[in-house]
Amino acid sequence: MGKMVPFLFISLATVLVFSLFLVCSPNPFKVTPKQGLNSVQNLHALQETLPKTHSVEENCDLFTGHWVPELRGSLYTNSSCTSIPDSKNCFKNGRKDKDFLNWRWKPEKCELPRFDAKAFLEMVRGKKMAFVGDSVARNHIESLLCLLSPEETPMGTYKDSEDRFRKWYFPRHDFTLMKLWTKFLIEGEERMINGTGELQYWSGNSGGYCNKTSPLSEAETNFGSFDWEMRNIQAEEIESARQNGMKDGRKFGVVDVTRAMLMRPDGHPGSHWDNNWMKGYNDCVHWCMPGPVDYWNDFLMAVMRKESGLVS
Ligand SMILES: *[C@@H]1O[C@H](CO)[C@@H](O)[C@H](O)[C@H]1NC(C)=O
Ligand SMILES: *[C@@H]1O[C@H](CO)[C@@H](O)[C@H](O)[C@H]1NC(C)=O
Ligand SMILES: *[C@@H]1O[C@H](CO)[C@@H](O)[C@H](O)[C@H]1NC(C)=O
Repeated sequence: MGKMVPFLFISLATVLVFSLFLVCSPNPFKVTPKQGLNSVQNLHALQETLPKTHSVEENCDLFTGHWVPELRGSLYTNSSCTSIPDSKNCFKNGRKDKDFLNWRWKPEKCELPRFDAKAFLEMVRGKKMAFVGDSVARNHIESLLCLLSPEETPMGTYKDSEDRFRKWYFPRHDFTLMKLWTKFLIEGEERMINGTGELQYWSGNSGGYCNKTSPLSEAETNFGSFDWEMRNIQAEEIESARQNGMKDGRKFGVVDVTRAMLMRPDGHPGSHWDNNWMKGYNDCVHWCMPGPVDYWNDFLMAVMRKESGLVS
């Protein structure tokens, strides 16, 4: 495994809004002989080109903060990114309100740098990255593909018949991205979506509504919910894995989006998810693209920088 997947990002994206990544290799950015000097130079080049404002402060908790108005909007649209799946292409499916795009996550004590496709691709040059998870992890990877699309569009190199295992290759950056299926489902309800082989899940909030058009404030957010409890259990498990990992030199970084995303019920497709054959069903599990799900990649990049010693 270690050889195949120099660093493995496991997304325990459950039914809920908890996405979590483990970096489980001794040093994800270790330069192997095969990669040679180029990678070393790239790393240095990257360090030098990262503007100071892009630094991720070591002790800042990126995941505690709030959403602030931001007029820059999203980094892609449904016309610039052609790989948005119909089920998450909310505008195509009739969503009219756009204000939900105009919010930025502001951590309490620092800034979360915006996703930078060029820098991301330099960081992962010559690497392989795997997302392991269910359809929410897939939502995450779909967002990543859209965010990277201005820099490089990958070749889809592998797709199984059920579309659960996918592999993309970015030739200009010798970067391989993979989606490996697993389900971390607890109380979810499985449904086969129209023969695509895609299983989607709804938790207790199935049949509910998620038709808000702006984020919730912290006060309005229910942190006593099942989602939040699940997050806390997973956070505990990860912390113990991290401690164990330190003993044998494995690094774990966590992208903990739960808090931020509990405030974003406005980011779900709701009824705008191409649901002709399931009228009246709201998708309150997956996320519109573009939308707040794109911030998962801002978080991912920040965590990768931190874990790779690229903090400047
Ligand atoms: C993009 O969204 C608009 C609505 O904002 C819609 O009319 C159009 O069909 C969508 N285009 C694509 C390619 O999905
Ligand atoms: C599945 O979708 C196709 C078109 O995308 C449609 O022709 C077919 O009737 C659908 N099947 C069911 C069971 O809804
Ligand atoms: C959301 O949907 C519910 C149920 O249909 C409706 O009562 C409510 O007015 C809707 N809210 C918005 C903002 O559309």
